[in-house]
Amino acid sequence: MSVTVRVPAKVNVQLAVGAARADGFHDLANVFLAVGLYDEVTVTPAEQLRVTCSGPDAAQVPLDRTNLAARAAELLAARHGRTADVHIHIAKDIPVAGGMAGGSADGAGALVACDALWGTEASRDELLDICAELGSDVPFSLVGGAALGTGRGEQLEVLEVGGAFHWVFAVADGGLSTPAVYREFDRLTPEAPAPKASAALLDALRKGDVEALAGAVANDLQPAALSLFPSLSGTLAAGTDAGALAALVSGSGPTTAFLAADAASARRIAAALSASGTCRTARVADSPAPGATLL
Ligand code: C5P
Repeated sequence: MSVTVRVPAKVNVQLAVGAARADGFHDLANVFLAVGLYDEVTVTPAEQLRVTCSGPDAAQVPLDRTNLAARAAELLAARHGRTADVHIHIAKDIPVAGGMAGGSADGAGALVACDALWGTEASRDELLDICAELGSDVPFSLVGGAALGTGRGEQLEVLEVGGAFHWVFAVADGGLSTPAVYREFDRLTPEAPAPKASAALLDALRKGDVEALAGAVANDLQPAALSLFPSLSGTLAAGTDAGALAALVSGSGPTTAFLAADAASARRIAAALSASGTCRTARVADSPAPGATLL
């Protein structure tokens, strides 16, 4: 018997970052939008905990206990007095180390899959608690859709979205370490103001207004990501030249995100980015997408 859960990637349409806190994390106003690029996490009973991964970027995925999927299984097992005796297989389609929460998605996926396989019947609140323990972005991977994350990003308020938005994601050659990007943010921004969600951006999401959303997207980590990965400015320019309404770094990068007027425009922008030589590959995806879903 095995259980498979599908989990989405995310883009941050607003990432407002405050000063570093005493615990090393940063207070955020983090507007998450789930997008239709998915990993599938399958769990099967096994003698002992084991993680495998398939997909074009599988070689870059850690298969030890640092993988959030393994940690999710262990945390749920420990809380319910059992051993995490499962084989976790990740069919990976979300770019790795790209700022699209692929690792977080696998954590949320493994959690929901193990809960179903073991019949743990953990409440939604318990699952969200475990997600927050796993990482700041993991609760959103469970919930999907759109949400405002405050605190370190783990306290979620679900947001209404009034229509579909069409995106292109340019996958860079190489990855960026999230802690390194936050450190660079601290260096570049000695006095960051308290983060605040943009009313114009929330309104654009609610109305499904793509032009208004394009005018309101903002990522405070973008200067830090560009400082550590300067060639991303060429990728952003290539997408803008191809007709993107907005171009930004996704989360801590180095994946870049392009908002398109419609699905046809998204396909044209993806083709232009692929041909530009400024990225490894370009992917089209729609939003919002559902959170962790049992298949
Ligand atoms: O929570 P998560 O493990 O995903 O965070 C990874 C790293 O990103 C943290 O160790 C920290 O350096 C940085 N981070 C931060 N403030 C946040 C979220 C993450 O400084 N709100």
